[in-house]
Amino acid sequence: MPLPTPVLLAPVGVLSIAHPEAEVAVARAAKNLRVPQIVSTVSSKTIEEIGEVLGDHPHWFQLYWGRNNDFTRSIISRAEKAGYSAIVVTLDTRLFAWRERDIKNAYLPFLYNEGLANYLTDPVFLAEVGDPSKDKMQTMMHFANCFSNPSSTWEDLSVIRKCTKLPVIVKGIQHADDAKRAIDNGADGIVVSNHGGRQLDGAIGAIDTLAGIADEVGSKTTVLFDSGIRRGADVFKAMALGAKAVLLGRPYAYGLALGGEQGVTEVVANLLADIDLTLGLAGCTSWKEVSKERLHIVS
Ligand SMILES: Cc1cc2nc3c(=O)[nH]c(=O)nc-3n(C[C@H](O)[C@H](O)[C@H](O)COP(=O)(O)O)c2cc1C
Repeated sequence: MPLPTPVLLAPVGVLSIAHPEAEVAVARAAKNLRVPQIVSTVSSKTIEEIGEVLGDHPHWFQLYWGRNNDFTRSIISRAEKAGYSAIVVTLDTRLFAWRERDIKNAYLPFLYNEGLANYLTDPVFLAEVGDPSKDKMQTMMHFANCFSNPSSTWEDLSVIRKCTKLPVIVKGIQHADDAKRAIDNGADGIVVSNHGGRQLDGAIGAIDTLAGIADEVGSKTTVLFDSGIRRGADVFKAMALGAKAVLLGRPYAYGLALGGEQGVTEVVANLLADIDLTLGLAGCTSWKEVSKERLHIVS
């Protein structure tokens, strides 16, 4: 699928903690700038509300894949109906990392049912939980059971493969062997990512894994990249090392916190301008001319 820009907005959950308009403000900015948006399962607004703003503009749905296959089928079908054109399955967050600051502050927005918009509007979830407003803690516990499944295997990807005709992209790949397993089990693309270094302490930097993975599987699948994209030069390097496009995460969330839709627009528009200049300054007129030979790799 051709994309209007080499940048997509990464799925960032619970954006109401940054701004009350959350993913809807991001959607308005994304559409105006023609940057595709990937919406998280744990968004603060529903996939339908966000999809309505985005209309025909490209948007993908990121799936946190839990134990309840009926919920998985239900939410994928809602995403399809709301015009999402790919399913991004995140595999590196099946357990939350040891995050000292969150533990110290007893910080977990889900405790207050923040970020549960898609669960609290889902017929399968509601049939199981009853009236969610009665007991927020019980709703949160039910969500926690539904949210992820640490025991799922590569073969289980077939569950997702079977319930949608949309392209399935696996996010959180850090090794060529896993990239091959993802493809063997039906993935149409991968996102090389270490979740911005927020999951496995001591994990290899995502950019250091990119070339090896792209060399192995880049001819068979679409390779995307995130974690640490901040400037035009970061995008150029990732594209030269084999990515077909990159995802931007925290920078747009910071823009949202500071200025809502306008804040997201400023951050992303500045990055797009920086990318154009970097491409020109590197002597290229299109991404087709960008390859590893353009880089001086220092080992
Ligand atoms: C606050 C926060 C929430 C996130 N939520 C999600 C999420 O819901 N789904 C997901 O796949 N990744 C999530 N991510 C990971 C991002 O999609 C991305 O992989 C990561 O932030 C690295 O990109 P960056 O360095 O540009 O931020 C989250 C990251 C942050 C910082």
